[in-house]
Amino acid sequence: MSTPAALFDLTGRVALVTGGSRGLGREMALAFAAAGADVAVASRNLEACEAVADEVRALGRDASAHACHLGRWDEVGTLADAVLERFGHVDVLVNNAGKSPLYERLADLTEAQYDSVLGLNLKGPFRLTALLAEHMRAAGRGSVINISSIGAFRADASAVPYSAAKAGLNAMTAGMAQAYGPQVRVNAIAPGAFATDISRAWTPEVVAALEERTALHRVGQPSEVVGAALYLASDAAAFTTGTVIQVDGGTR
Ligand SMILES: NC(=O)c1ccc[n+]([C@@H]2O[C@H](COP(=O)([O-])OP(=O)(O)OC[C@H]3O[C@@H](n4cnc5c(N)ncnc54)[C@H](OP(=O)(O)O)[C@@H]3O)[C@@H](O)[C@H]2O)c1
Repeated sequence: MSTPAALFDLTGRVALVTGGSRGLGREMALAFAAAGADVAVASRNLEACEAVADEVRALGRDASAHACHLGRWDEVGTLADAVLERFGHVDVLVNNAGKSPLYERLADLTEAQYDSVLGLNLKGPFRLTALLAEHMRAAGRGSVINISSIGAFRADASAVPYSAAKAGLNAMTAGMAQAYGPQVRVNAIAPGAFATDISRAWTPEVVAALEERTALHRVGQPSEVVGAALYLASDAAAFTTGTVIQVDGGTR
């Protein structure tokens, strides 16, 4: 029987975290390093990724930083190649980079904004998973974690294209689990409201409304996503695939 420590041990594994420069991505990158993994950090901002890579190295693990627009098909391919060349393998992929534009009316959204949201939250994860899961399957193991949103289940008027993209990501999770199993597990985490940079746009009234409809009566702290991420990344989740774990403080 494995010990709890052995179940969650990521020693010898390489994790790629998109959007790892800050917020939930940074927390997951550091948690994976603390569990023994080497970590590749990707976002548009190379300097910010370098800073997180330095934090990973301070934990005694190897790290690399990559500038990439995760909504662009070709750049995603370049990223996959760069990480494979740097480490030789990728065992854990976290498709975390995501965003939702602010808008007054849905009719005000431009085609470019719409395509950008779908590109970053759905197209990029599709392409990166398709490229890296092939290598994971050939290597005999891998875990893909898609960072979805509770908005995929409870869409509201403020983020319609984003919620649609995240619902698509949930469907993709199930399909990719079929496509790449049994060697590769593909799961998603659906966060509720977390106090990252995203929350800076929330007025006190918005925060109060979010707390009101949450069973735990508060928003999440970024570090509270790592339990689910460590579970899905590691052998602790050996029989878990194709599913979406809600980390949202519960509903009421
Ligand atoms: N926080 C919440 O309440 C919440 C709720 C539900 C779901 N989520 C999901 O959780 C994930 C992380 O959210 P977060 O709150 O940590 O967000 P965040 O603090 O705003 O961080 C977003 C990350 O994505 C990167 N990013 C944004 N656009 C990018 C692009 N075009 N190409 C590459 N990287 C890009 C950012 O890096 P750069 O700026 O350096 O590029 C940053 O590292 C997202 O998928 C989000 O949809 C968050």
